[in-house]
Amino acid sequence: MKILVTGGAGFIGGNFIHFMAKKHPKDEIVNLDLLTYAGNLETLINVNELPNYSFVLGDISDRKFVFDLFEKEKFDVVINFAAESHVDRSITNPEVFATTNVLGTISLLDASRTYEIKRYHQISTDEVYGDLPLDRKDLFFTEETPINTSSPYSSSKASADLFALSYYRTYKLPVTVSRCSNNYGPYHFPEKLIPLIITRALDDKPLPVYGTGANVRDWLHVEDHCCAIDLIIRKGRIGEVYNIGGHNERTNLEVVKTILSILNKSDKLIRFVKDRPGHDRRYAIDASKLEKQLGWKAKYSFDEGIAQTIEWYLSNKNWWENIINGEYRKYINTQYGDCR
Ligand code: NAD
Ligand code: TYD
Repeated sequence: MKILVTGGAGFIGGNFIHFMAKKHPKDEIVNLDLLTYAGNLETLINVNELPNYSFVLGDISDRKFVFDLFEKEKFDVVINFAAESHVDRSITNPEVFATTNVLGTISLLDASRTYEIKRYHQISTDEVYGDLPLDRKDLFFTEETPINTSSPYSSSKASADLFALSYYRTYKLPVTVSRCSNNYGPYHFPEKLIPLIITRALDDKPLPVYGTGANVRDWLHVEDHCCAIDLIIRKGRIGEVYNIGGHNERTNLEVVKTILSILNKSDKLIRFVKDRPGHDRRYAIDASKLEKQLGWKAKYSFDEGIAQTIEWYLSNKNWWENIINGEYRKYINTQYGDCR
């Protein structure tokens, strides 16, 4: 099988390429990535030399480039991970989220239709469902939960999902969509909560927690996510949406305190800073469709996964120190100027 992975130099796409190289070494993978601030080829050093892996630098929203690539490569499957993915950046600069996440998806869908791709899979997020109240632990997002977005990021992702599903209904393009909860694990860019806290705590820097830290996220280890995607592209029903989540709900403050305790650092590093505008209160996924239909089950509990992740950041300092020393530093100064 020849697979186009877009956004494979990012966190989840990069982990997916590692996962596939191990699980399906005969599959051919082409990684198309624009190498934005979030793309990092150092993530792929171990797979770079494999004969059935190749990297192509390019923009998913450049239609001519995308069509030429499809003409040349004759893909069987397209998995679209490429996106602008950070909510805070979508609040300061929404436009690029529409260009990459919406127009980029449309150009991939059009090329997939023209070149009769056997499966187009859209990587989406539980954030398209909006949020749940903090005091209703009995409520979860199912695939039937109405779309009700809060941020420019989630609005762009919801729009892309609707385009993908409309291409199934209108053109019979064999589309599947998966919506997962917050991922964590190796190669996670240090602007997101978990790697931000690990890397800053290791340097004894103040740790910014938005609002009171009571917001809840449902944490999914990235390897469990990769395993679910692999199942969906092989066995998932076309035209359908699959939720992915591992029932690992934690408040942000609990997550930060867990990391501090494993690293043996003081809670005094915590700083409660101004809340994110429109901050979603709680995400919680019901993944029973994926479990019952395709036999998926999360392997990692949060306690195991966070210990493994911290261990990875301790053993791979070069990977994240190279990021922190570069352009990223300017972003951190702008975003957290008030967190001293
Ligand atoms: P990421 O920001 O780490 O990586 C995104 C990758 O896409 C980067 O390598 C970047 O260079 C590339 N990219 C950006 N714009 C591009 C363009 N125009 N053309 C080609 N490549 C481009 O993101 P991630 O966390 O790995 O997320 C991957 C996907 O999973 C995204 O679609 C995201 O919406 C979704 N998702 C992420 C999470 C999470 O917790 N990280 C949760 C749910 C869903
Ligand atoms: P994030 O990793 O940005 O993912 P998302 O917004 O997609 O859920 O944030 C996870 C949670 O952590 C979210 O509730 C916002 C919060 N957060 C902080 O409290 N401080 C921070 O510095 C960041 C980046 C996030």
